[in-house]
Amino acid sequence: MKALVLSGGAGTRLRPITHTSAKQLVPVANKPVLFYGLESIAAAGITEVGIVVGDTAQEIEAAVGDGSRFGIDVTYIPQESPLGLAHAVLISRDFLGDEDFVMYLGDNFIVGGITDLVEEFRERRPDAQILLTKVPDPRSFGVAELDGAGRVVRLEEKPSQPRSDLALVGVYLFTPAVHEAVRAIAPSARGELEITHALQHLIDSDRRVASTVIDGYWKDTGNVADMLEVNRSVLERLDPHHEGSVDEETEIIGRVRIEAGAVVRASRIVGPAVIGAGTVVERSYIGPSTSIAENCRITDSEIEYSIVLSGSSLEGVGRVEASLIGHDVEITPAPHIPAAHRLVLGDHSRVQISG
Ligand code: TTP
Repeated sequence: MKALVLSGGAGTRLRPITHTSAKQLVPVANKPVLFYGLESIAAAGITEVGIVVGDTAQEIEAAVGDGSRFGIDVTYIPQESPLGLAHAVLISRDFLGDEDFVMYLGDNFIVGGITDLVEEFRERRPDAQILLTKVPDPRSFGVAELDGAGRVVRLEEKPSQPRSDLALVGVYLFTPAVHEAVRAIAPSARGELEITHALQHLIDSDRRVASTVIDGYWKDTGNVADMLEVNRSVLERLDPHHEGSVDEETEIIGRVRIEAGAVVRASRIVGPAVIGAGTVVERSYIGPSTSIAENCRITDSEIEYSIVLSGSSLEGVGRVEASLIGHDVEITPAPHIPAAHRLVLGDHSRVQISG
């Protein structure tokens, strides 16, 4: 069995971060979200992994390399533009050959991994198997309708009137029967080859599409709110350790990981939180559910329920909450009276200013 990991895409919902970086590399508890997926693929005993890459190919390749550090062997498959999940399968035909495979969306996060699921698929071997989870508002997802026996009878992409509350989770299991289906379908109204259409084609051709409803934790980290929520849940299970230097004036409460080379002075850190290598925290408060990446500088500031990417600084800026801050960002107070906001923001930035 092989794996196909999708790490191309446009990432419009995570702009401006995705103007310059791959969304699959945004860190959760200071580790790229994609790495959790690769680890669970390796844990399921799959070693041959194709990674579909787009505009951010270089960055993904630099981060993942040949895969040996995960115990997998990676083949990169370039996709000229994000033409859909079924298009990604179409262009991966040579890599996939005639083997069964698991397709994993590189920005999805599944607690508990995929080992049980892969084993169930190997035993029963339907033509395809999808994962479903109940969501409060299914209108922005692929939605499945099941018959009494749990067989999938219909799939719809982002329906305005959903027939169920079962949304497709970003992991799919396929036999080679899918190749005929991805060749048979036409692009949707949004110009993509939809995987839901390929699955519907299998159903209409009397193929067996099985489903498993998971009640474990799953998130598509495609938007900021979900990203912060995944970060919070991963930090809850953090192994605390203090390898950096922490002075006597600092108070540390709860699960906190301070990486080697980090320096914390005269501050209060309330976990769960992680402080990356080379980061300096001074006279500041780091609150629960916060990940500060490597080589950041937090001085005379307060931050909570946030993710800060490497090389960024917050100096004397009061309180920051529920924020995703990119690489090498500088946040400082306005130096003169009146204390007006002076902003240099990239395209598609979103800022909420208080006061
Ligand atoms: P999506 O999040 O559905 O799409 P997107 O990356 O274009 O994001 P947005 O909706 O914010 O514009 O994609 C799911 C995953 O699949 C993600 O990791 C990107 C990847 N992907 C591809 O590799 N190729 C594709 O053609 C598409 C559509 C997505």
